[in-house]
Amino acid sequence: MSNETIKNIKERRSVRKYINKKIPEEILEEIIDCARLAPTGNNRQAWSFLVITDQKTKSKIASLARYGRFIEEAGACIAVFINQDKATTPLQDASAATENIMIAAKSHNLGTCWVNSYQKEHSKQMEEVVNCPQDMELMTLMSVGYYDEESVNMPSKKALSDVLVWNKF
Ligand SMILES: Cc1cc2nc3c(=O)[nH]c(=O)nc-3n(C[C@H](O)[C@H](O)[C@H](O)COP(=O)(O)O)c2cc1C
Repeated sequence: MSNETIKNIKERRSVRKYINKKIPEEILEEIIDCARLAPTGNNRQAWSFLVITDQKTKSKIASLARYGRFIEEAGACIAVFINQDKATTPLQDASAATENIMIAAKSHNLGTCWVNSYQKEHSKQMEEVVNCPQDMELMTLMSVGYYDEESVNMPSKKALSDVLVWNKF
């Protein structure tokens, strides 16, 4: 009872160590194509997806994000921006797109790691580095890149039976 989509969802794990290999532009484009198709409150789609492959910019962002230093080695870094005046559910919209990005990336054998960036210390600085328009705000940030399977942590997950509730608590 499994297919490729289920497999990619189940096998995705945060990747924080990357190998030095360029990600083809078509793959990054397809990943963003999956992001833009995610659901949004009232179908507002008030977002922009910034893909950073420039090494200098990645290094700068890595130096700003205390818990995202690994961005420097990743082939790319993707940031989701939302216009908070136009979106009705900005954080949910960005999170839905972020998960699409992670699963689409996994299907291309790319690892990702979400770097907490919503209204964090580094958020405004990161916005300045990438010339973020006044009406947009950084919602999520992630690293994307090729990796060695052996370098991936396998954090324990709660069992299905511990979290699944049928009909009523
Ligand atoms: C909203 C959010 C913020 C996160 N921020 C960070 C972060 O700043 N740095 C990091 O290394 N991992 C971050 N993570 C990744 C989590 O640590 C990771 O998802 C969790 O440990 C479970 O591991 P898994 O992704 O391999 O299943 C974040 C995850 C989420 C959902």
